[in-house]
Amino acid sequence: MSSERTPKDVARQSSVFIGVLSSVAVLIVLRLSNSLNLWTISIIVGVVLEELSYFVIYNAIEKYIDHRIKILYKTISKVKGGGDLTINMDEDVVELANQDVMEWADGQIEEINLLRETDSFRKDFIGNLAHELKTPLFNIQGFILSLLEGGVDDPEINRKFLSKAEKNIDRMTSLLEDLDSISKIESGAMNIELETVDITELSSEIAENLDRQAKDANVQLKIQEEEEKFNVLCDPNKIGQVLSNLLVNSINYGVENGKTVVRFYDMGDNILIEVADDGIGIKDEDLLRIYERFYRVDKSRSRHAGGSGLGLSIVKHIVEAHGGNLHVRSTLGTGTTFSFTLQKAPIGKT
Ligand SMILES: Nc1ncnc2c1ncn2[C@@H]1O[C@H](COP(=O)(O)OP(=O)(O)O)[C@@H](O)[C@H]1O
Ligand SMILES: [Mg+2]
Repeated sequence: MSSERTPKDVARQSSVFIGVLSSVAVLIVLRLSNSLNLWTISIIVGVVLEELSYFVIYNAIEKYIDHRIKILYKTISKVKGGGDLTINMDEDVVELANQDVMEWADGQIEEINLLRETDSFRKDFIGNLAHELKTPLFNIQGFILSLLEGGVDDPEINRKFLSKAEKNIDRMTSLLEDLDSISKIESGAMNIELETVDITELSSEIAENLDRQAKDANVQLKIQEEEEKFNVLCDPNKIGQVLSNLLVNSINYGVENGKTVVRFYDMGDNILIEVADDGIGIKDEDLLRIYERFYRVDKSRSRHAGGSGLGLSIVKHIVEAHGGNLHVRSTLGTGTTFSFTLQKAPIGKT
C-alpha cells in the first residue's frame, strides 16, 4: 500500500486533476480561436468541472465502498456479532477494514485453537476414563472368576478375594464421583449450601475415614488440636471432598513413615486451612499445571495409586465457589503444603 489516502483525498485529488486539465484544454481552444482575451472562461470551466467531478467521484466511491466493504463487514460480523457500520469518508476505510479483517481472522484462529484443545481434552478424557474403568473392572472379574473356580470353598481365600474386589469397587466409585463433580461444575449446577461448620471437627472426621488408607501407606495423618473452635461458613460435603482429596494426595504422594499435618490459622475474617506433607514434592514447572484436568506429574505412579488427575481441579473449583483461595508451595523431595481460606461463620450462629 503506497499512501494512506482517505476516500475524500482521492476524490479531491482526482477532481483537481480534471479541473486543471479542462482549464488547460479551454485555454488551448481559446488560443486556437485567437480569443485569449476571454481566458477567465478557462478558470470558470476548470473550477466548475473540478467541483462537479468531485461530487460525482465522491459519491461513486462512497457507493462502491458502501457496497463492497459493507458486504465484507456483514460476512465477518455475522459470525462476530458486531454492530452496524457507518462509513467515514475522512478515514482510510480500506486500511481500517483490513485491520478489522485481520483482527477477525486472529479471533477465528484463537477460536479454532480453543475448539481443537477442547476436542483433544475430550479425546484424552474418554481415553483416560476407559482405562481407569477397565483396570478395576478386570480386577473384579479376575477375583470373581477365581472364587467361582473353587476359591469360594476356601474360607481364607474367599475373604481375601472379596475384600480385593471391594477395593476395586471403591476405586470405581470414587472415579465416578469425581466425574459427577466435574460434570456438575462444567454445567454450572454445583449447589453450595452454606452452613456453620466446625472445620477442626470436619477435618478429623475426614482423616478418620482415611485411617485405613493412611496406615496401608504408612503415612500418619495429624489434625492440629485447637483450644478454640474454628467455625466456618461452608458446604460440609464439598469442603469434606476438598480435605479428602488433599489428604489422599498427601498419602499417595507421601513417603514411607511420612506425616501429614492439618493446621488452622485465624486470619481475621477468614480461617486458613493448611494441609502440609513431607512427601515427594512437586517440581516448579509441574506446580503450574497440577490444577489442570487429568494432569499428573508421574502418570505411571498416579495410575498405580488410582488417581485420575481430576482431584485438584475439583478442589480448586470448590474452594473458589466458596469465595476462597487455594495456594500451594512445594519443594521436590521435601514436601508439599496446600492451603485454602474459608469465611468465618458469624458469631452466635450455629
Ligand atoms: N501432596 C502432593 N505431593 C506431591 N505431588 C502431588 C500432591 N498432590 C498432588 N500432586 C501431584 O499433582 C497431580 C494432580 O493431582 P490430582 O488432581 O489430585 O490428581 P490425581 O491424584 O488423581 O493424580 C498428581 O498426579 C501428583 O502428581
Ligand atoms: Mg488426587
